[in-house]
Amino acid sequence: MSEKWIDVGAKDDMWEGAVTGVYAAGKEIAIYHVEGNLYATSGVCTHGNAKLCDGYLEGHEIECPLHQGRFDVRTGKAMCAPLTEDIRVFALRCENGRVEISLS
Ligand code: FES
Repeated sequence: MSEKWIDVGAKDDMWEGAVTGVYAAGKEIAIYHVEGNLYATSGVCTHGNAKLCDGYLEGHEIECPLHQGRFDVRTGKAMCAPLTEDIRVFALRCENGRVEISLS
């Protein structure tokens, strides 16, 4: 099966050092712009119902706004308590200034 890419916005709207919340095929996604690279994870924390786009991005780690659990945005690895489950990561690509995500 071929990979399906979904447009989630303009790269220029995803600011360096910031996390942006988007929707792709009805799923909440968080996109992080760190040191010139874009990364994407599920937008909802694995510990509770918190939006990671409201969290605090420091380097390659996003801190959940609810209980301060932290994920590595490159791998989705849960870095500290209270997290016990990693978060899903997704592939991104840029085409003509647009960011596209693969949910497969
Ligand atoms: S909801 Fe994210 S750490 Fe608890």
